[in-house]
Amino acid sequence: MSAAASPARMTTEDFRLPNGPRTRRHLNGLLFLFARRWTTARLQRRYGDAYTLDLPVVGRTVIVSHPDLVKAVYTAPPTVLHGGKNPLGSLLGPGSLFSMDEERHLEERRKLLPPFHGERMRSYDALIEEEALREMRTWPQRREFATIASFQRITLRVILRAVFGAEGAELTDLEELLPRMTALGQRLVTATILRRDFGRFSPGHRYREMRRRYDEIVRALIDQRLADPQLGERIDVLALMLAPLRESFERIDHDELADELLTLLVAGHETTASSLAWTVERLSRHPSVLRRLEHEAEGDSSALRTATILEVLRVRPVIDLTGRAVMQPFQLGEWRLPPGVRVITHIGTVHADDRFHPEASRFDGDRYVETKPATYAWIPFGGGMRRCIGAAFAQLEMDVVIRTVLRQFELQPTDVPGERWSFRGVAFAPAKGGVAVVRRRDEPLGAEAATPAEAARCPVDHDALTTAGAAR
Ligand code: HEM
Repeated sequence: MSAAASPARMTTEDFRLPNGPRTRRHLNGLLFLFARRWTTARLQRRYGDAYTLDLPVVGRTVIVSHPDLVKAVYTAPPTVLHGGKNPLGSLLGPGSLFSMDEERHLEERRKLLPPFHGERMRSYDALIEEEALREMRTWPQRREFATIASFQRITLRVILRAVFGAEGAELTDLEELLPRMTALGQRLVTATILRRDFGRFSPGHRYREMRRRYDEIVRALIDQRLADPQLGERIDVLALMLAPLRESFERIDHDELADELLTLLVAGHETTASSLAWTVERLSRHPSVLRRLEHEAEGDSSALRTATILEVLRVRPVIDLTGRAVMQPFQLGEWRLPPGVRVITHIGTVHADDRFHPEASRFDGDRYVETKPATYAWIPFGGGMRRCIGAAFAQLEMDVVIRTVLRQFELQPTDVPGERWSFRGVAFAPAKGGVAVVRRRDEPLGAEAATPAEAARCPVDHDALTTAGAAR
């Protein structure tokens, strides 16, 4: 571990933090916010696998990027490291996993894990395919378009149907409300001052109004489910959570459930859509993998597609870090961290390191065909007691959506340089939105491109373009 060579900075007699730059807190904050990929790569080269950075709001933060240190973080007892200091938690509400720690967090995860169990996920295959086909009917042909907006619509409807169990009017209402609400919410995550209600047109007031409407719809949804004699036959996550509670006459807290459903949506919608856009972006630049995947998609096999998705999640992790707060003295390798310090595992740096992934910068669709990713070197979903609860769901959704793309369309390869990374509030997405050119397989060669209705849909996601270049 090269960090061992760095001189250590003493804090008190007992505690030792890794060395790090002495630059001012606000400059560190700006670099971390607007040029994080460049900054973390540079700091790792300079200081090794662990360094300390002074950041605004959170203070001293130790950033680690070696699997041994990652393991130490992810296996620490929940009383020693907290994850619930996530700024998302305060926006999503006290019933959100992001707001919880220790016993309460474990208890909530125990409730959520069975509905999200890997084996159960297969029951959503048909629903995901139906949503993918529905959306892909609008895809224009033979001209460039940004796929991310389309993937966002798919992932939103999939979560609303598979997790919320929404259908009919509730599905339409939530589908209209939630993109506006989460877009505004993303801006309020860090700009906490704007959360206050400064009058009718202020962001805080608008967010509150949207949240009120959301709670109303979700309450109605919960009451309908509880009154449903067929509740036990439903496969959506909400029904799976409610059924045992109804059986045991346990008190059902509607507000907490509304917080948790919103958490699942916020955590799962943008992340999966961005990972899908990256998949298209990578595949259109790797025609040999693409051709083999197309061939595989003609049958029932999925070994290469599964491996390719694991590789996309490695080379383009949409969440680049996970954070914890030290609550009790914490032994991290050769260092001992005092309470009050933050620890970040930097996913992007671990994934880009040749020591842990040979030729790490190369996109290799075969990398995981016969090899499983290493637990603490492949960490797109974080790890330990806070590992992403929707990991199996996200991988299934990516698998089915990409399978549908491959079966429906020929994706045109390109030699245009890869898209840059762009931070979109929750996740890193390709800066141009995962641009693709496709031709429908059942369409005769030379057939007309898009219908007027398709053409009316803006092919380029301007939202993605305006934030482009925020991070490389
Ligand atoms: C490609 C898609 C996704 C990626 C890359 C991703 C990544 C992550 C990461 C890095 C974490 C933090 C883990 C940690 O702190 O150790 C996380 C947490 C979480 N994710 Fe995901 N996620 C994805 C999709 C989903 C989906 C589809 C859902 C649910 C429908 C979901 C629900 C959650 C929840 C609830 C947490 C908080 C877990 C806790 O604090 O105990 N995620 N995710």
